[in-house]
Amino acid sequence: MTDPDMVPNAAPASHNSGGGRDLFSKFDPLIAERQALLDTGVRDPFAIVMDEVHSPVLATIQGKETILLGTYNYMGMTFDPDVVAAGKKALDEYGSGTTGSRVLNGTYQGHKECEEALKEFYGTRHAMVFSTGYQANLGLMSTIAGKEDYIILDADSHASIYDGCALGNAQIVRFRHNSVEDLDKRLGRLPADGGRLVVLEGVYSMLGDIAPLKEMVAVAKKHGAMIAVDEAHGMGFFGANGRGVFEEAGVEGDVDFVVGTFSKSVGTVGGFVVSNHPKFEVMRLVCRPYVFTASLPPSVVATAATSIRKLMHAADKRAHLWENSRRLHQGLRDLGFELATKEAESAIIAVLLPHQDKTVRMWQALLEQGVYVNMARPPATPAGMYLLRCSLCAEHSSEQVGRILDMFAAAGRATGAIA
Ligand SMILES: Cc1ncc(COP(=O)(O)O)c(C=O)c1O
Repeated sequence: MTDPDMVPNAAPASHNSGGGRDLFSKFDPLIAERQALLDTGVRDPFAIVMDEVHSPVLATIQGKETILLGTYNYMGMTFDPDVVAAGKKALDEYGSGTTGSRVLNGTYQGHKECEEALKEFYGTRHAMVFSTGYQANLGLMSTIAGKEDYIILDADSHASIYDGCALGNAQIVRFRHNSVEDLDKRLGRLPADGGRLVVLEGVYSMLGDIAPLKEMVAVAKKHGAMIAVDEAHGMGFFGANGRGVFEEAGVEGDVDFVVGTFSKSVGTVGGFVVSNHPKFEVMRLVCRPYVFTASLPPSVVATAATSIRKLMHAADKRAHLWENSRRLHQGLRDLGFELATKEAESAIIAVLLPHQDKTVRMWQALLEQGVYVNMARPPATPAGMYLLRCSLCAEHSSEQVGRILDMFAAAGRATGAIA
């Protein structure tokens, strides 16, 4: 089935009369690879449409009721009645959008309330809300580290961290994923002058493994570095207050910046940085991804603030999410799947498959059974891996987790992924 919107080697409609090369030609190998895959008759794993969404864990996809197991909606807040009501009220009272930057006409009462909710949630003096988590990382990395400074980051860092580094002028040093020893070595080789920012993530989202934050923070401190931790996948269910892996690791007092997103446990869209640094507020004047873009709509900040306040008191949900995660991990391992971690380290369980063909077949077989998971492939994955990434939700019932395991068993046998 040829995708009429993407034809490899097709001549552009109006180009090249002057001899310049078609700037899209560099993508021809990718377009051809995708087409070859679609020609085998599989569905495109990157073009799924949710026709209807019934709850945080159920949707209709191509007419079939499907369990959602790849949404990062960890705490299931998207349909929380208080969250939805807050969004509707703000929509009625403040309209559909702010049409402006946070530093001009785009800060409403709701944006300040959302920042207050974050300050309470994290127990910090400062909180800055961005339009996405991607922009929060772009903003922090590109603004606080300048030409004379160093950013030291885990090789498996999220794209938004890398892109933030690319946007700024700091010198970038990478260390081996989760290696405390390599971090120590690389910090030790830096010249004495210049600032240092070590960037870590609580949970690494491709494999679902967590960082040894206690050890890493100690090493960063020893070398006089400031520390930023991205808790995109840890917020909501790690630590007694759901602040993230850094809370659970007991290093709250040593972390200078926590970056996060509203697009996972909070259940809407947006991003933030929280900090206790006394000069942090200057960021509002100098951080380009904060200044030069429109702020979040009032309905979004109202849903985020309500959700964040509810997440402070969600111990039962956290416990159920852990129960679900451990059960799925154990069940998949017992079925014979190869998993990225020895045990469930987070609510992301990544299933390793040998190559793209088998991964897409397994992904499609699961969808036909009635469960949606994320497929991930290089370059998004480390070490050229092909993965089916499952992310659990506190709203998955025990019965649903049992059904998911049955569907994995059937799909795995049908595709030869397990014996
Ligand atoms: C570790 C990490 N940081 C940041 C982000 C960006 O978050 P957002 O979806 O709010 O742009 C993501 C999202 O995938 C992420 O996984």
